[in-house]
Amino acid sequence: VGGVPISVTREQLAEHKTPDDAWLCIRGVVYNVTHYMDFHPGGCEELMRGVGKDATALFNQVHAWVNYQTILQKCIVGRLHSEEFTLP
Ligand code: HEM
Repeated sequence: VGGVPISVTREQLAEHKTPDDAWLCIRGVVYNVTHYMDFHPGGCEELMRGVGKDATALFNQVHAWVNYQTILQKCIVGRLHSEEFTLP
């Protein structure tokens, strides 16, 4: 725990887009939701709509109130790499 978080690029995020290898990003944080897949109350098919990408807007549309931070606490991969922080 602690230290510099792993930076995940959008390309790396897009490589994890199957039900048995599923990453998604919400509000800048990348989560591995593979093990949550079978527990999502909305089902696997719904959760898969946000996989491999930045799912922030989709998540906010369906249930912005859901406390995903607590549910996915142990599933954090890292931060979504932001081009803004790239040094010249
Ligand atoms: C429920 C879709 C991601 C947690 C639902 C439902 C849908 C849905 C349609 C309603 C199911 C029903 O009432 O029959 C999606 C989509 C996602 C997504 C499209 C893609 C981003 C997540 C994530 C989490 C989550 C990342 C948490 C880690 C929940 C919970 C419920 C739920 C706790 C039950 C909410 C309630 O009954 O108030 N989801 N979901 N979902 N989802 Fe998601």
